[in-house]
Amino acid sequence: MAKRIILDCDPGHDDAVAILLALASTEEIELLGLTVVGGNVPLHSTLLNARKVVTLAQRECKVFAGCPRPMMRDIVTAEHVHGETGLDSGSGQPLGEPTVGVEPDHAANFIVDTIRAEPEQSVTLVAIGPLTNIAIAFAMAPDIIPRVRELVIMGGAGFEPGNITPAAEFNIYVDPQAARAVFESGVNLTMFGLDLTHQMLITPDRLAKINADGGRVGKVVGDLLDFFNQYDISKYGWEGAPLHDPCTIAYLIEPAIFDMKKMHVVVDTTDGPSLGRTVTDWWAATDETPNVLVATRGDADRFFALITERLSLL
Ligand code: RIB
Ligand code: CA
Repeated sequence: MAKRIILDCDPGHDDAVAILLALASTEEIELLGLTVVGGNVPLHSTLLNARKVVTLAQRECKVFAGCPRPMMRDIVTAEHVHGETGLDSGSGQPLGEPTVGVEPDHAANFIVDTIRAEPEQSVTLVAIGPLTNIAIAFAMAPDIIPRVRELVIMGGAGFEPGNITPAAEFNIYVDPQAARAVFESGVNLTMFGLDLTHQMLITPDRLAKINADGGRVGKVVGDLLDFFNQYDISKYGWEGAPLHDPCTIAYLIEPAIFDMKKMHVVVDTTDGPSLGRTVTDWWAATDETPNVLVATRGDADRFFALITERLSLL
């Protein structure tokens, strides 16, 4: 039975691959809607990019606009990683103009209304950008929290240093108050942090396979990832950039790719060098009740093979 999901995103190159993987995997995933948040680039661009990616997939999917900024801070964006458009390509070729529009409802209202309308524990939330839309939905309607089957996020880091500050991963750092509210909400939470996503590198071999075997869409994705690789290769000196966001969707399709461990995680919202850090009790040093299922290891070859195979179906 397909998992029925709402995907909250801030496209962004890796968000785009996550959206395409979800749309291509109709046996395992029913994408009820895309909700969009400001993050990698401002909301007007993440929204346009989400519509362009759905159009590229040539699939139907409703797109909802969400929060343009964090709850208590000015937005921090990542054009240095994703380019001015948020989906800059290696060739400079932009994605085609969108043929899908924007739904009238706010993203938070779509999340609340859908979870209230659908049977309990039947909807999975996936969040691969700052958690503002999710936190607002939970604040508007706390009754939906126990109705959520699982909230799977890309965000945070345990052993790995941060990627936007020495302490914090980008999605958490952009809206740490939203993240703290979500981590403390009691929702059934699964976290794909940098400890896991930094194992999923877009190496030259993997990129070549996406271009060669990923079909029509694989060639476009290859061009996008060509650009996306540049910043992180120069920053980390690795063979490729980490492909963060699709890990959440691959987990829903083929969970055996990943090793998971339940542990206590808390978000640091103190104003200072550790703002946005996910303090992860990996070895149960405290007697805090574990509240998050954390991804610890993954089989990168299986991960990229899944992505390449599914892109070829679009
Ligand atoms: O830190 C990586 C995360 O921040 C990814 O979701 C990327 O798209 C950005 O949103
Ligand atoms: Ca993202």
